[in-house]
Amino acid sequence: MVCLGNICRSPLAEGIMKSKFSKYKLPYSVDSAGTGNWHEGEAPDPRSIKIALENGVDIAEQRARGFTTEDFDRFDRIYVMDKSNFKTLLNQIPNISYQSKISLITDFYGKKGSEVPDPYYGNLNEFRNVYNMLDEICEQIALDFYQKR
Ligand code: 4NP
Repeated sequence: MVCLGNICRSPLAEGIMKSKFSKYKLPYSVDSAGTGNWHEGEAPDPRSIKIALENGVDIAEQRARGFTTEDFDRFDRIYVMDKSNFKTLLNQIPNISYQSKISLITDFYGKKGSEVPDPYYGNLNEFRNVYNMLDEICEQIALDFYQKR
């Protein structure tokens, strides 16, 4: 799960995806990172922690990190939150064969081409919207894996 800072959206996506995999008893590991590393080592934004907790998902122990080239090999699927993240990662791929690992997470929302909006400068409502969007998307991703297992 990849966003810009790895403190607002992708920590939510990581926590939610883990809870969906647990719900469907799927043995997949999930991690998150930012295309930028300014927040390296920091806990998620308090607003993300709060919204997640309201929904029974604890993300407080996560720590931010920047995406690295090794991540292209370490992970089978790389979900990005917006088109800017997509472009940034595409510019970092070691070769063209890695391109198919990357997808815009909203493509699983029945809204091809839309994005998970950056809530950093927004209020709690924006974080709540992001949570609800990611909850719906991750449910679909997990269900899809479950049905194809
Ligand atoms: P995120 O949100 O990409 O969802 O983690 C942001 C967090 C921090 C910044 C931008 C977006 N920032 O500019 O520091």
